[in-house]
Amino acid sequence: MPQKKSTPAKNGATPAKKRILTGDRPTGPLHLGHYVGSLANRLKLQDEYEEFILIADLQGLTDNAANPKKISENVLTVMLDYLAVGLDPAKVTIYIQSQIPEFTELFNYYLNLVTVARLERNPTVKEEIKQKGFGSSIPAGFLVYPVSQAADITGPGAHLVPVGADQLPMVEQTREIVRTFNRLYGETLIEPEALIPKVGRLVGTDGGAKMIKSIGNTINLSDDADTVAKKVKGMYTDPKHLRVEDPGTVEGNAVFAYLDAFDPRKEETEDLKTRYRKGGLGDTEVKARLLEVLEDFLAPIRARRALYASDPAQVMDLLRMGTEKTRVVVQETAARVRKAVGTQYF
Ligand code: TRP
Repeated sequence: MPQKKSTPAKNGATPAKKRILTGDRPTGPLHLGHYVGSLANRLKLQDEYEEFILIADLQGLTDNAANPKKISENVLTVMLDYLAVGLDPAKVTIYIQSQIPEFTELFNYYLNLVTVARLERNPTVKEEIKQKGFGSSIPAGFLVYPVSQAADITGPGAHLVPVGADQLPMVEQTREIVRTFNRLYGETLIEPEALIPKVGRLVGTDGGAKMIKSIGNTINLSDDADTVAKKVKGMYTDPKHLRVEDPGTVEGNAVFAYLDAFDPRKEETEDLKTRYRKGGLGDTEVKARLLEVLEDFLAPIRARRALYASDPAQVMDLLRMGTEKTRVVVQETAARVRKAVGTQYF
């Protein structure tokens, strides 16, 4: 808990260190896109902030009700990915959404502060509805998950939400709910801000706008060396770059996008770009360099993952402790909410 004694805040909720909250649906292994979009920021900020990370299993169920095993079994997968990239359980509090019923209580209050029309306008939800092919059978829980996400964020009293750009509408909607709540019931909740990485989001291995598990254009943090090599070999480059001598295009070329994101030796990437543009540099050579870069990045992640994976009971214990700690905080928020609304009867 807060190391320094906190100065009393307006609503009694501000801790000594500012709080961060973010998380993921446990629908499968995390990939390089998650790293660039969110995990890198979480790592950078784990010293400076009091950081909470949720594994959003209830949100995962909103479009997987008939397949709950997919969600419950991936809780451990995602937790191992967190630990593997270097999130330190001594600094970061990681917890499971469904094990804290007060989130659902907050969600219930917030649902009345949002219109169905507003939910239908949420661009991320709109796109997901299209992408998932719900047609006219959108699960009600899916349509309202941004409201549940507002509970995720306000429950631990987060100031900052480090997420990828696609999550910006969720934070925006949370801010609206907070403002409405505070206006109707008095200053109670903290209005959070999104923290979006400056680097653009990582394209898929097929050159598509982003990595999407169901499309199969991802490189997972847990992929073994052979899998990564195969995926890099099949990566999208410049379709017009047919012969080594031909001048090639760097823009929109996935291999160069990954080098930009992961090669710590920037001059070397720039040199490769120059040579590629001029002609005389083959895709095979650029891909070989990328593989080297990705292996340098992934090898320590794999090693750390293996270490934790050898003792799943200990990993689940970390989750249990993180959940217990978070629940105390969310219970405090729920108590303040009840008091503000006037539903604290006894
Ligand atoms: N919607 C996020 C995703 O799909 C996961 C999530 C749930 C989340 N609750 C959150 C992210 C709260 C940030 C804050 O990845």
